Order: sequence, then C-alpha cells, then structure tokens
Amino acid sequence: MTLTLSDPTWYPIASSDDLPFRHVYQGQLLGRELAVWRADDGNVNVWENRCLHRGVRLSIGVNEGGELKCQYHGWRYANRSAGCTYIPAHPADAPARRIQNKTYPVREAYGLVWSAANDDQPFRPFPGAEGHDWFALRPIPVNAEPEDVLAALARLAPDDQPADLLPGLAVRFGGTYYFVQPVAADRAVIRGLLADKPADERATLRHYSETLSRLRDRLERAAKKKPAPEPLKPAFEKVSAELSTMPEIAVPKGNTITVVVKRKWTSADGVIGFELAARDGHLPTFQPGAHIDVHLPNGMTRQYSITNGPGDLMSYVIGVKQESASTGGSKVLVETVREGDLLSISEPRNNFPLRRDATRTVLIAGGIGITPLLSMARFLDKSSLNYELHYFTRAGETTAFRSELEALHGKVVFHTGLPRAEIATTIASALGQWSMAQHVYVCGPGAMLETVRDTAAAQGWPEEAVHFEYFKNDKPIDNSSAFDVELARSAMTLHVPSGKTILEVMRDNGLSVPSSCEQGACGTCLTTVIEGEVDHQDVYLNRSEKASNTCMMTCVSRAKSPRLVLDI
Ligand code: FES
Repeated sequence: MTLTLSDPTWYPIASSDDLPFRHVYQGQLLGRELAVWRADDGNVNVWENRCLHRGVRLSIGVNEGGELKCQYHGWRYANRSAGCTYIPAHPADAPARRIQNKTYPVREAYGLVWSAANDDQPFRPFPGAEGHDWFALRPIPVNAEPEDVLAALARLAPDDQPADLLPGLAVRFGGTYYFVQPVAADRAVIRGLLADKPADERATLRHYSETLSRLRDRLERAAKKKPAPEPLKPAFEKVSAELSTMPEIAVPKGNTITVVVKRKWTSADGVIGFELAARDGHLPTFQPGAHIDVHLPNGMTRQYSITNGPGDLMSYVIGVKQESASTGGSKVLVETVREGDLLSISEPRNNFPLRRDATRTVLIAGGIGITPLLSMARFLDKSSLNYELHYFTRAGETTAFRSELEALHGKVVFHTGLPRAEIATTIASALGQWSMAQHVYVCGPGAMLETVRDTAAAQGWPEEAVHFEYFKNDKPIDNSSAFDVELARSAMTLHVPSGKTILEVMRDNGLSVPSSCEQGACGTCLTTVIEGEVDHQDVYLNRSEKASNTCMMTCVSRAKSPRLVLDI
C-alpha cells in the first residue's frame, strides 16, 4: 500500500478526550496539519491548519464556541462551514462568501475522531465495531514508516490470538484494536482501542503505554538504519473555473437552496417562527445581520433576517410577522406553508454587518426588528463583548424570541407598552452621549428608526456609528424623471424613461444585476456612481452617504442630471 496525500481512507486523528471545552487540537494526517476543534453544539471540525490571511496556524487560535478566531489578525471562521465571518481590518464589511477555509470530512465514533483526505469514501465502522463499550489507549507517536508500524503491531499478537488485518492501517487480536494514523511518510501515531472498559483503567493504560513505548523504541532504531522514504507527493487540486475567472465585481449568481420547514411555531402574538433546515449537510455561512430571500409558493420573494448565533448552520430560524394588511408575502408563508414543506431560499446576504471592535454596542429593536439584532446579540455574547439590547414591543405577548433573549448573558432590557414620548426618552438614555468606538444598531418601524437616528445625532453620535435596517421603504417614490445612464464597465448607454427604474432598464437590456427588496431598503443593488447627480429615494444610505453622491440604489433612485455614469 502506497500512501498518497489523496488517500480516501478514514483514519483516526484524535481521541474524543483531546477535544475538551473550547480547545483547539493540532492534528496531522498524510503530511497535512489539521486544526481540530469542537464547537459548543458538539460538532467536531477538522480544517486545514492555517488562516487564509497570513497562513498562521489556527490550532493556536481561540475557540469561541461557534467560531474559531485566528490569533494573529483575528479573522473568524464559522463552525461547520469554515466560512470567514469577520475580518477586523474591515470591521464594517461582511467578508466575501468565497473566503472559506478547507474542511475535511469528520466522524466521531468509538472514542476517536476520524478523518480522511477527501470524502470519496463514506465512513464505515471497522469490522466488530458495534456493541462494545470502547476504551481508548494513550496515543503513541512513532518516527517510522506507517506500514512498518502496522507490521510490528501485528507481531504483538499472542500465539492463541492471530492478528487480523482490518481495512486501512489497522489490526486486531482478541479485544485489542490498533489503528495507525499515517502522519507523514516517515511518521505515525498508534491509536489503540480495547473492546471493553477494563476494571482498572490506570493499570491498563500503564501496561499498554509501556508495551507500545518499547515497540516505538525498536521501530525508531530500525528506521534509522533504513533510507528515508520518499515524502508524500502533494496532490494539487485544480482551481475551480469559478475562482479562476472571478470577475472584479462578483455578481451573485442567484443560487437558490432548497430547505425543509422543520418547525413552525408561534413565537409571540403575531409572530410566527420558522426553522428552515438543510436537506443534506449544513447551510452556507452567514454573518450577524444577514438575511435570506425566501421564494414563496405564490411566486413572490420576501426577505427575512437570520436569527441564529455563530456557527449555527444546520438550519436558519426566521421570524415572520402576521400582518392583516399583508399584500400576500408574509400572509402566504404564515397561512399556507406547513412543517415538512420545501421552500427555496437564497444564500445569505449581509447589508447590515456588525462591527466587533466596539467598546460598547447598543442594539435597539422594535417589534419584529428583533430578528437581525437577536443574531448580533448572540455573536457578541459568544465572544464576551460588551453590549446591551433594548427591545421595544407593544405588549408582553408580542415579545418574540423571549426565551432565546433570556438565555443571553449581556444586558437585555424588555420595554413593553411604552407611550411614544417615553420610548423617545428611553432611547435617549440607552444611547447616552457618544464616546469613541461605540456603535448602535437599530431595526424596527420607520418612526422608531428616525427617532434613534435623530436622538443619536443630537447626542453627538457620528453617522458612521449609527447602523440601521428598515423593513421597507415607506417613502413615496417619484419616478417621473427621464435620463440616460452610461454603464462604464459594460460600455453601454441606456435611456431610463419615466415610470421605469434603472434596474429594470438594465435587465431589459440583458444585464444580470443583483437585487433583493427592490424598494431601496436592503442595500443589495448598491452601485458606485462615477459621474452625475443622484436623486436618492432609498432608506438604505445615511445622510452623508447620500450627500457624497458616490453611490446609489438602482432599484429606486434616479438622476437629477441628464446623465449618470455608473460603475457597472
Ligand atoms: S434591491 Fe434592495 S435596495 Fe435595491
């Protein structure tokens, strides 16, 4: 058997005991270094042991429970997907979706953690694996070729219990099983299992450690007399066509994911919770504040914020408001979608990213606006960062996700049934006077957002410290103007007549441009303006962003000048 870097055999790489709470273990397999860590939800991750930023070992990083944080520049990666969730050097931006570390398949069974160089083969229990109370021996590293180690282990078999070679590099005799973890061409780790827990565990461990240490010494003496084996040949993976042709501006491909409605429940009076689970494996990485588009059975698309905490990727939980005046979107979801139904959703997008470099973060939610802020609070909570969450509702029964909020350790304050004037004074005292590196995030009804923005401005908060997400754009849209747009990258000039949006005209001319809410609230269609004067009609940009005239939302905003030049 010749070892290769792409060997699909499952080998043990750690024992379950190597992964205590919030620890990161450095594993090795077939010439690779691995960062092995258990998230707070019990999932074990096996990743390439290097940060995608500067290649620093992630095994010296910090296990934050749902994310692994690189020790060097603090990049964070999500449990399960290894997708990057935060880059401290760009605290106000959501990292690109393609920043994702290499993951390896993993199973935890029989007291050991197993992995393989790829997932070409399903994990299969070794013969005789079931029906025992397995007891793991202490691992013994050996500087010798893995096959020589296996042969030497087989020779340990007593005469009345012949050695039985198992698939991979493994051997058993009686109730003793040895697995050789091939670390490199000239190094291995012996991992042993006993089929039943011994009466005296310490004496048993000592006995096996002494036996295997003597074996190791013999093997290492013999290895020194042999020529060194050829190192494992690297198996280069072809760069995917998508990455090798990545355009400068990445346009979302409109990929949809099919999810199953795992749970539907009444979270509060007028708020229905939906848990949307992956049909296979896990869902894509998201950052706090992210939303998904849900494609509804009636053909409509609606945006809902993900409420999950870090690394929680087996399902997304959203909250949907039951609105009597609903135009069909949320109404369809609430009234016709049942548990077990399949839905199509988009990959998560984040136009409301959370900075994690604040000395104090204030989260202010009104009604169903709690959904993105619940996710933010969960991320801040896991990282033990300083935050407070103020949640305004009309009455106690309308307080959604109450038990999830009560499980947090930060300062969560419920404000119920306050009159309008009292809401304003409560917001003012929650904000306080601004001081360096404080940020506020607000999501709720339009009037509440305006109150927070005005109060923050009056109390010295700079615009860049005030982050907001509107549910929708309630402002009347004036689409009576007509003008030309020059698309600089596409070398096209298009006429936008009255009654049509820039987005519609671009689509009519065959351009694929990302959008989501199409009412100037979500930020998906944000575009750089090169020339011309914009007639801003969105609620996504703040006042100074609008005044800068450097960007616009093509779904609602228009031109005041006869011509606009856009970076599309
Ligand atoms: S698509 Fe949502 S702001 Fe334009």
